[in-house]
Amino acid sequence: MSTPFFDAVIIGAGAAGLFCAAQAGQRGLKVLLVDHAEKVAEKIRISGGGRCNFTNRDLDPRAPQRHFLGQNPQFCRSALSRYTPQDFIALVQRHGIAFHEKHKGQLFADRSAEGIISMLLAECADGRVQRWQPCGVKKIVFSAPDAQGTGSSSYQIDTDRGPAQARSLVVATGGLSIPKIGASDFGYRIARQFGLPLVQQRPGLVPLTFDGADWAPYARLAGLALPVEIGTGAGKERMVFHEDLLFTHRGLSGPAVLQISSYWQDGAPLDIDLAPGIDLPAALAQAKARSRKRVANELATLVPARLADAWAGTDADWQRPINEASDKALARLAAQLARWRLTPTGTEGYRKAEVTLGGVDTHALSQQTMECRAQPGLYFIGEVVDITGWLGGYNFQWAWSSAHACAQAL
Ligand code: FDA
Repeated sequence: MSTPFFDAVIIGAGAAGLFCAAQAGQRGLKVLLVDHAEKVAEKIRISGGGRCNFTNRDLDPRAPQRHFLGQNPQFCRSALSRYTPQDFIALVQRHGIAFHEKHKGQLFADRSAEGIISMLLAECADGRVQRWQPCGVKKIVFSAPDAQGTGSSSYQIDTDRGPAQARSLVVATGGLSIPKIGASDFGYRIARQFGLPLVQQRPGLVPLTFDGADWAPYARLAGLALPVEIGTGAGKERMVFHEDLLFTHRGLSGPAVLQISSYWQDGAPLDIDLAPGIDLPAALAQAKARSRKRVANELATLVPARLADAWAGTDADWQRPINEASDKALARLAAQLARWRLTPTGTEGYRKAEVTLGGVDTHALSQQTMECRAQPGLYFIGEVVDITGWLGGYNFQWAWSSAHACAQAL
């Protein structure tokens, strides 16, 4: 049997791969989508707590550095401007999927992430996309045009279901997070095979961990969530978020910590204001003037009671009626809560990370098409590229926008 020939083979049937395949197929191209996982789009399925935070209304394509990280966040400007959150919202509306805004521009499906997956599969069906899944890719060989310049270049892809040949190869294999649902380093290996530079990868949007003994006093707060201001870095590098923080048995999580984790550098401290917007010195001084309750009880009117209890328990000066506590002891309490400084020992790693920072160096790619500058017909889209968004729908929007840019160029 002769090897089937496609205009494009796309490796990875996740967010970016499905969307790119659909768009290219609808342009009339013959497209094959290959994925080694049993199920399609597993990350969409588990995203947004099962409701898929599919985009963000606050995204400003003209200022991508506000919500995206990478060595060159400006790289994503072109793709984000040409396929915007509004474009994806229009698609979702055309498919009759109900959605709502939860927080800071984040849009979620009302019912389930399955609706978004069904929509992408329907779009692929419209584009007559062929899908081989589960199907591993064993080998990729590039054939350059011959010396006379006759014939054209192509990619030979050797898979578990036999060979396929294509004019273009699109790598949409995502990052390293959550290996148990199919994440692999395959995209980076393809990049290496073709001599492309990579930016060092590390887990992003990930819970942070602390030394067991140091963390022991706080471990009993596991499950407690509260709004905080959290920051790391200094000067121009400083990043601050106002979000909810969650105590866990091993450390800290919640949106505040996931966001800051992408900016946190190994060994650097975090500064956390556990009572943002509250004038703690004034509130404690007023309580001292009028109350005989214990410090912890008065503090519990300002911050969650479990936190007040645990915090006051760490110093003998705070384990007494507030009117008997010294001004100095109360000032120290206020200062510590407003500027809790602590240094994580690490992260929960790819097992819990929502994204992978780093990846294929954007200098090697065209920002208009996502094609490799030095390797004709080879494209990288989505999370495998060194572009990482904030929590809140930004990563899916990058998947849709980069996929769209690529699909128009195939
Ligand atoms: P994606 O990971 O979606 O797809 C990659 C595909 O490639 C997978 O299907 C995989 O099986 C396949 N593949 C990998 N290796 C292969 C190989 N060797 N051979 C063949 N196929 C291979 N973002 C957001 O914007 N809003 C949200 O609500 C969330 N929520 C969220 C929750 C959780 C728990 C996680 C882990 C992540 C999120 N994200 C998110 C991030 C978001 O899921 C992620 O950025 C996108 O899915 C990236 O899309 P890609 O298509 O690039 O990779």
